[in-house]
Amino acid sequence: MEASCVRVLILVACLFPVLVESTVRHYKFNVVMRNTTRLCSTKPIVTVNGRFPGPTLYAREDDTVLVKVVNHVKYNVSIHWHGVRQLRTGWADGPAYITQCPIQPGQSYVYNFTITGQRGTLLWHAHILWLRATVHGAIVILPKRGVPYPFPKPNKEVVVILAEWWKSDTEAVINEALKSGLAPNVSDAHTINGQPGLVSSNCSSPQGEFKLNVENGKSYMLRIINAALNEELFFKIAGHKLTVVEVDATYVKPFKTDTIVIAPGQTTNVILTADQSSGKYMVAASPFMDAPIAVDNNTATATVHYAGTLASSATTFATHAPPKNATPVANNFIDSLRSLNSKKYPAKVPLTVDRSLFFTVGLGINPCPTCKAGNGSRVVASINNVTFVMPTTALLQAHFFKTKGVFTTDFPGNPPSAFNYTGTPPANLQTSNGTKVYRLPYNATVQLVLQDTGIISPENHPLHLHGFNFFAVGKGVGNYNPKKDPKKFNLVDPVERNTISVPSGGWVAIRFLADNPGVWFMHCHLEVHTTWGLKMAFLVDNGKNPNESLLPPPKDLPKC
Ligand code: C2O
Repeated sequence: MEASCVRVLILVACLFPVLVESTVRHYKFNVVMRNTTRLCSTKPIVTVNGRFPGPTLYAREDDTVLVKVVNHVKYNVSIHWHGVRQLRTGWADGPAYITQCPIQPGQSYVYNFTITGQRGTLLWHAHILWLRATVHGAIVILPKRGVPYPFPKPNKEVVVILAEWWKSDTEAVINEALKSGLAPNVSDAHTINGQPGLVSSNCSSPQGEFKLNVENGKSYMLRIINAALNEELFFKIAGHKLTVVEVDATYVKPFKTDTIVIAPGQTTNVILTADQSSGKYMVAASPFMDAPIAVDNNTATATVHYAGTLASSATTFATHAPPKNATPVANNFIDSLRSLNSKKYPAKVPLTVDRSLFFTVGLGINPCPTCKAGNGSRVVASINNVTFVMPTTALLQAHFFKTKGVFTTDFPGNPPSAFNYTGTPPANLQTSNGTKVYRLPYNATVQLVLQDTGIISPENHPLHLHGFNFFAVGKGVGNYNPKKDPKKFNLVDPVERNTISVPSGGWVAIRFLADNPGVWFMHCHLEVHTTWGLKMAFLVDNGKNPNESLLPPPKDLPKC
């Protein structure tokens, strides 16, 4: 092309920025094995492009993202873009056997989606087996060009990924557990950007630690992601308050806190103002568990290091992680979250309800003649007493091509029998098995109350809904009361997110608009509970208009 012509094009682009606003971004994810050493032991792990944590995917609101995933490992693979709404593009969502058949060894698949109406931090992760342990990374969605953040622009932005590390192979960990019928081993360390820091271990050589270099007077936006498999985490920094500005890629009313709590699958953006003059300050990530369930008690550490501080001489200002059962610390954070609800970013809470659903979430015990360690039974998990059975062909394909016999649409909108959910468990703890979906008409407004049960033990369950953001309108301890509790719902500025903790021995109420046709997974984001069956799917019908229908599948959609 001639130079003058190029100049004209640039001129046009400047005059009509909307025309060139959205960009197509190409990424290539090679799924490969790589030896990695942590806690003085080396093991091969599955990675994207040989990196742990994986590469950050950058995009702007309105961009189209094409990620070619090539599977070079022995496992089947699929990648989920956690929190990306995938409007009409369920084929690119990623959960194996829900929206696609997995990418088999030697095969590839191009995930093709457009980011609409979202900006902030999300994460991508493997959505099959326990590969998420090492196959995960950040998604950074910048606002449209020229659109500022609704808070002062930080001087710098930093991705902070929290995760768990096992010395042994994570696939072996879950396979052994499934054979025994009992819970899998907890992890051996937590990590901050891949490093455990000052973890106590039987290992004498120093552990790697993530270091954040800061300068006095500057501000840093930390894009914090919990990519751990099974644990909710507290996160804090010695001597500093954090200003929370966004969760799950939605802006919140800014508030200051010294501790955040973050469940697997959740993301939290905070502003750290470097208001100390010098020194080294400890960053701590430690488990939150307010039920009698085993967790990895190790605290991962990192360091905030002020410029001008001598590395050798300075002592580190320590911080104490909250005790693991610090429910009030967690509640203090969760109850402070409110949608920004500004003119530019209104909270579009459904004010009327077309479908009112009540789902119990929790554990159960089913017979397992081969489970020796479990005395002939196994721990399972369920929603409304249904333990979800994974199909062998993807639900979305079965739906689109009208294949019979893959799933049924009789997922119950209420528990099959009422009991004192958070009191003494019923005598029979057995669940039923099924591949059931709950069908919703296009654009239905849905209220869903998620009720924890005390079966085996009450426990906090971070539930993630694919394909939608929802508003967290209410939360409480004990059993949900359908007469009294709705009166206390926040329908003005509830936080909007994609993953929410059902409190231990309590409930949460969420509302969403079913404006995305397709099949959408909902599950506990504690991987052990997903494995045990704490999962189901919504099937949202097409709308009447052409732009309200699920698009046809791409040509390279993997086959089962
Ligand atoms: Cu982040 Cu279905 O998962």
